[in-house]
Amino acid sequence: MTATVPLLAVRDLHAGYDRVGVLEGVSLEVPEGGFVALVGSNGAGKSTLLRAISGLVSSTAGQIVFAGQAIDNAAPARIVERGLLHVAEGRRLFRAQSVLDNLQLGLWGARLPKAEAAARFDRVFTLFPVLHERQSARAGILSGGQQQMLAVAQALMHAPRLLMLDEPSLGLAPAVIDQVLDAVVQLRRDGCAILLVEQMVERALQIADTAYVLQNGRVIGHGAAADLRGSDLLRQAYLGAGAKGLAPTLPSTSTSTRTTA
Ligand SMILES: Nc1ncnc2c1ncn2[C@@H]1O[C@H](COP(=O)(O)OP(=O)(O)OP(=O)(O)O)[C@@H](O)[C@H]1O
Ligand SMILES: [Mg+2]
Repeated sequence: MTATVPLLAVRDLHAGYDRVGVLEGVSLEVPEGGFVALVGSNGAGKSTLLRAISGLVSSTAGQIVFAGQAIDNAAPARIVERGLLHVAEGRRLFRAQSVLDNLQLGLWGARLPKAEAAARFDRVFTLFPVLHERQSARAGILSGGQQQMLAVAQALMHAPRLLMLDEPSLGLAPAVIDQVLDAVVQLRRDGCAILLVEQMVERALQIADTAYVLQNGRVIGHGAAADLRGSDLLRQAYLGAGAKGLAPTLPSTSTSTRTTA
């Protein structure tokens, strides 16, 4: 049996800001079409890892391979062109521009044939009908949930093979969180691989296939998402960190969860 090559492979990655190291040898894989959750307490390095993968933070050692090509320290625009999209924390939109303009700006530089561009608009409007209804509204007046949908939709205009999302539920009401995460599940069904950073740990582990637990810039364990739910490993990662979204009474650690020292 031949081993399948992952869509994204991060190997022994070291990265940080100026002289401050944050990631200290992180390895992680996302299979083609897979759904991977990345969890860990505040300051663990989750956002830094996504930034390093998308080229926004330089790595000092290690390797990042996407779709068979090394992308470590490649220009962010080149990484986007290859189909690796990052929806950053905090819904960065052109607030004074309309929904439609924001989507159009998402396509900036892509030079797509008209029919393909139209197909991409159709796709995001099918996934988020509310954006179709509000296409002329300024992004800045949308609700938080609609803004998050627009941020995701903007990334989808690039027809990603892998979408990385950094805490899409942040600041949203529970019903709206469900809408946003349901859309992420739908995207995955449509064949897009997902790397999800989420503070709603329980929700993330319900919808992902596998999960990685990050602590102090290191992966302290990974395994099937279902096995990690309620595990001691997860408790350890969140100890003293106010584990938002973690139910207090969950089954104990499964033996199939691998831990890395
Ligand atoms: N722009 C920056 N410049 C310097 N240090 C930073 C910067 N951004 C993050 N850090 C530091 O890097 C470490 C990891 O932060 P990061 O934002 O990656 O964590 P996180 O796991 O995403 O946390 P959170 O759950 O709070 O979003 C922290 O110590 C943080 O203070
Ligand atoms: Mg973060």
